[in-house]
Amino acid sequence: METCLRPENMARITNFELANAFIEEQIKEVRAQVGDKKVLLALSGGVDSSVVAALLIKAIGKQLVCVHVNHGLMRKDESENVIKIFREELDANLIYVDATDRFLDLLAGVSEPEKKRKIIGAEFINVFADEARKLEGIEYLAQGTIYPDILESVKQAEGKKAVKSHHNVGGLPEDLNFSLVEPIKLLFKDEVRVVGEALGLPHAMVYRQPFPGPGLGVRCLGAITRDRLHALREADAILREEFDKCGLAEKVWQYFVVIPDIKSVGVKDESRYEGWPAIIRAVNTKDAMSATIEEIPYSVLHKITARITSEVDGINRVLMDLTPKPVGTIEWE
Ligand code: XMP
Repeated sequence: METCLRPENMARITNFELANAFIEEQIKEVRAQVGDKKVLLALSGGVDSSVVAALLIKAIGKQLVCVHVNHGLMRKDESENVIKIFREELDANLIYVDATDRFLDLLAGVSEPEKKRKIIGAEFINVFADEARKLEGIEYLAQGTIYPDILESVKQAEGKKAVKSHHNVGGLPEDLNFSLVEPIKLLFKDEVRVVGEALGLPHAMVYRQPFPGPGLGVRCLGAITRDRLHALREADAILREEFDKCGLAEKVWQYFVVIPDIKSVGVKDESRYEGWPAIIRAVNTKDAMSATIEEIPYSVLHKITARITSEVDGINRVLMDLTPKPVGTIEWE
């Protein structure tokens, strides 16, 4: 990340006209910067990397090589959607890497949250670097750095400590000495979304809720197992589907399911049925530094509970987390 502060007179991008002017300016700048060289981008499918991909496809077409790493901790259908939008609709030069086994094998038996985060972050870089080394003629690395990332790094340089080790791509091995292309590094998130829509990205992608780099890895609490991860992915998909149906998806900042590594006794088909609880978290916040709890109607919670306990193998209870931040962080790990 290159630290560079936003000029005081830079207008806030609030509409398509301003977004289009920004896009045109960036297209010129990127073309001037990279010439006919190739640019590599780790495309997670999150808002920032997706907007950078769409912008660079416009600027340099197939000179952009996108790599989507599926770490096996994505939500249901997430990687498939990235492929559909970027490869099929935007004709991107996209390499898809299914690294599920690499990640889950390394994580097997690891229960300490910071250790899990470090393994996921480091392996992400390993997988991405492996792909980069297979490619020829890459001179640039594009990144979805945005202005809050720059402000955060300034804060950390001043010695302020983070609560969790967030992982984002960066710190590639020394043999991969790329120059950086960071076209949205002076934008705030709301501006990135306006630019994304002006670039023609789907509304659902541009306004999607935040999803942490370590993905479902920090929501499948303790040591991750494939069966519990599968249950988490299915339960989370049901929660998202039901929130979509009743309009809560537009209203709630972040909502997801967490599954702890504990079982309780239940009963199913007249037999003892030991299962995990699925915990629902639905929070509102402005800056993720503090968060409040969204009040979900009981009718919606009953429906979600009925669906999760009947449709997802291994879950026999549904709980709601009512803890604001502070004292609970938004993610459980
Ligand atoms: P916490 O749990 O710290 O989360 O209250 C605050 C916000 O940050 C997201 N989060 C992450 N985002 N990489 C990310 O890009 C990460 O490693 C990471 N960990 C947490 C979390 O989902 C919430 O929106």
